[in-house]
This record gives sequence, structure tokens and C-alpha cells, in this order.
Amino acid sequence: MKVALSILTADFMRVNDSLKEIINDVDYVHMDIMDGEFVPNISFGPAVVKSLRPMTKVPFDTHLMILHPQNYIKQFAEAGSQYITFHVEADCDVMETINLIKSYGVKAGLSIKPNTTVEEIKKYLPYLDLVLVMSVEPGFGGQKFMVSAIDKCKELKELREKNNYNYLISVDGGINDKTLPQISKYLDLAVSGSYVCNADNKKERLEILHNM
Ligand code: DX5
Ligand code: ZN
Repeated sequence: MKVALSILTADFMRVNDSLKEIINDVDYVHMDIMDGEFVPNISFGPAVVKSLRPMTKVPFDTHLMILHPQNYIKQFAEAGSQYITFHVEADCDVMETINLIKSYGVKAGLSIKPNTTVEEIKKYLPYLDLVLVMSVEPGFGGQKFMVSAIDKCKELKELREKNNYNYLISVDGGINDKTLPQISKYLDLAVSGSYVCNADNKKERLEILHNM
């Protein structure tokens, strides 16, 4: 299994130090961007993404949990994101935002919250490089995995096979050694935050997920 490491719960003052044992072994670094409007929490913005860019050559997978993603695509693209994912529930023109992301040579992802169905994003699937299924309510790390994500990933995989679509299927929230096996066969990429970042032996935890 490919792993995107969410650094939301990492110690930012010493992020280089605390993550150096694994940062080059993950498949993506997952940047959780929160604006205090779309979700009840604030994290960090494009300046921080840019300052973290030299930390590793691993691609950045930027997850925008913000109300107006369209206004910030340029900044997050220029900060060094290889994927930019935004929410279908955000206040923007979805198709325009997908095209805007691609216009910077960045891959476009669309995310759905636990109460949003795959049906609601069906018309965008042909244009996407990634679909991010939330298995927690976005806003905070360290929450419990919601099993409703399993059927959504299964449906996305069936739709991809049937229609020859190209998106990666990714899941975000509450991923650990117990929850990943329940969903891994429908996934290309698992986002993991606290399970890996908050462990004493981060390398071991990452290996457990990689081997699933
Ligand atoms: C939730 C974020 C997730 C989260 C993952 O709003 O999008 O990426 O930080 O953290 P864990 O793995 O701790 O649920
Ligand atoms: Zn995320």
C-alpha cells in the first residue's frame, strides 16, 4: 500500500528532526490545509508548504479543507504541490477549479466528506487524478475511522474499471493497522497521520502500512 503521511499532528517547530527517519520513505507528504470556515480548525497556509518543500523530494499531496479553494490554487501550486485536492462541498465551481489546478501542471483531486455520496461527484470522475474519501469528519487528526468509507471506495473502484477512468482512490482519517485491512483492496493510497507520526517507532508503523 502506498502511504501519504499527514504531518498535521507533527511537531512543526522541529518537523525536520521529528520526521527525518521516515520522510523520504513515504510515497507522498499530505498537507492538511484548514481555514477555520470550511472546518472548525485552522492549520497552515502556502508559506508553510513552501518552507517545507526543501525537506524532501517526496511529492506533496495538498488537501484543501477551505471554503474558497479557487482563490488559493495558484499559491499552493507555486508552493510545490504535485497533487491539489479540494472538497466538492466547498463554495466554488468544481469543474473550473479542476481545470485551474491542471493549468499549473498539478494533478487534481476531489474529496468527499462522510455525508457526501459518490453519486454526487460522478460527473467529475472522468476529469480527476485522485478521489479522496474522508473516513472522518475533516478538521482534526486522531479521530475514529468511519466504515462508511469502505463502500464508497468499492464503488469508486468499480466505476473506474467500468469506465476506464484514471483517478487514484485514497482514504483519509483514522487509518491504522486495524482499519487499513478493511479497505485496502479498494485503495491506491492511504493517508495516515497520528498512527505513524505520534508513534515512538515511526519506521515500524510505516512499514506495517506499506506491507498491507
Ligand atoms: C482530517 C485530515 C486528515 C488527518 C489524518 O481533517 O484531513 O488528513 O489529519 O490524521 P489521522 O490519521 O490521525 O486520522
Ligand atoms: Zn487530509
